[in-house]
Amino acid sequence: MGVNATKEIKTIGVLTSGGDAPGMNAAVRGVVRTALANGMNVKGIRRGYTGLIEEDIIDMNGRSVADTIQRGGTVLFTARCPEFVTPQGQDKAAEVCRKHHIDGLVVIGGDGSFRGARDLATRGINTVGVPGTIDLDIACTDYTIGFDTAVNTAMEAIDKVRDTSTSHERCSIIEVMGRTAGHIALWCGIATGAEDVLTVERQDYNEKLLIQNIIDKRKMGKTHHIIINAEGVGDSYGMASRIEAATGISTRATIIGHIQRGGSPTCKDRVYASAMGSKASEILKEGKTNRIIAYKKGAFIDIDIEEALAMKKDLDPFLYEMQKKLSKM
Ligand code: ADP
Ligand code: F6P
Repeated sequence: MGVNATKEIKTIGVLTSGGDAPGMNAAVRGVVRTALANGMNVKGIRRGYTGLIEEDIIDMNGRSVADTIQRGGTVLFTARCPEFVTPQGQDKAAEVCRKHHIDGLVVIGGDGSFRGARDLATRGINTVGVPGTIDLDIACTDYTIGFDTAVNTAMEAIDKVRDTSTSHERCSIIEVMGRTAGHIALWCGIATGAEDVLTVERQDYNEKLLIQNIIDKRKMGKTHHIIINAEGVGDSYGMASRIEAATGISTRATIIGHIQRGGSPTCKDRVYASAMGSKASEILKEGKTNRIIAYKKGAFIDIDIEEALAMKKDLDPFLYEMQKKLSKM
């Protein structure tokens, strides 16, 4: 597949796909206004790949993205589209792009959405992916749109639970999002001084150890015990009743849930998302295709989708071990 297409890019499309993330609107705005500044036309595709297949497409101008940078969610709506995963669905989507003269497409989403972008690139539509997910689980990049807002939202909620947990000398299990990734749990655990962090990536704990840790910490004089549990580990309510039965310490579970996905994006999410959207527009203009925008070593770069999808991401080992040390005493 050629990385540098020869055709002139006159019109690009932009869509948001998969789970929404605060900052997606800033990215869309970055795409739209950079494209217009560079003399390209822009079409907004609503409801992700579903909207592409169903031709839910709108013309966008500079004012279409006015008053959006501070808003959470995505003004283009998002969806998960099973039909698009099939070759027939992808053929149809590529055909719709051609019908609407969309030469290039910016896909804002996660790994699943990028697989779709790659499949469209093989069908002759120039594509660029922009990493948008609160989970931070895209291997090629140190930053994903929405993570910063999500961890700040979760951190504030955990601080509040901690107040009441301390007052009642309780143990609290607080479940944060991340079905397959524990980055939110780890960051929140560090930021709130939690005693334990449970993630799917590291199974170096068991309930017996957890209970012993709670008993030991109580003997040390700790008046609360905060456990941050990743969604992928789950069973927070069950865990709470088992801990209470084993320790005699009043224990409560709190699941923060979708609150973490919404809300006004942080400054970092607005700025980085704007930069990523803008860069995606720029590289489409240059004729590049099958690329993902990433943030690495302090710079916004673009890399091959195939290469990016082959990479694996783990929890930061230094942060993981540090959390354990800092919560020991
Ligand atoms: P994310 O982009 O956040 O990882 P999903 O995994 O739900 O979210 O993917 C979003 C959409 O991308 C899916 O609904 C589907 O339409 C498309 N998609 C996901 N996986 C693939 C795949 N393997 N091939 C083509 N398209 C895919
Ligand atoms: O990928 C983002 C995310 O919020 C995950 O952290 C979570 O596991 C999942 O999406 C929940 O998705 P849904 O929108 O289906 O509840």
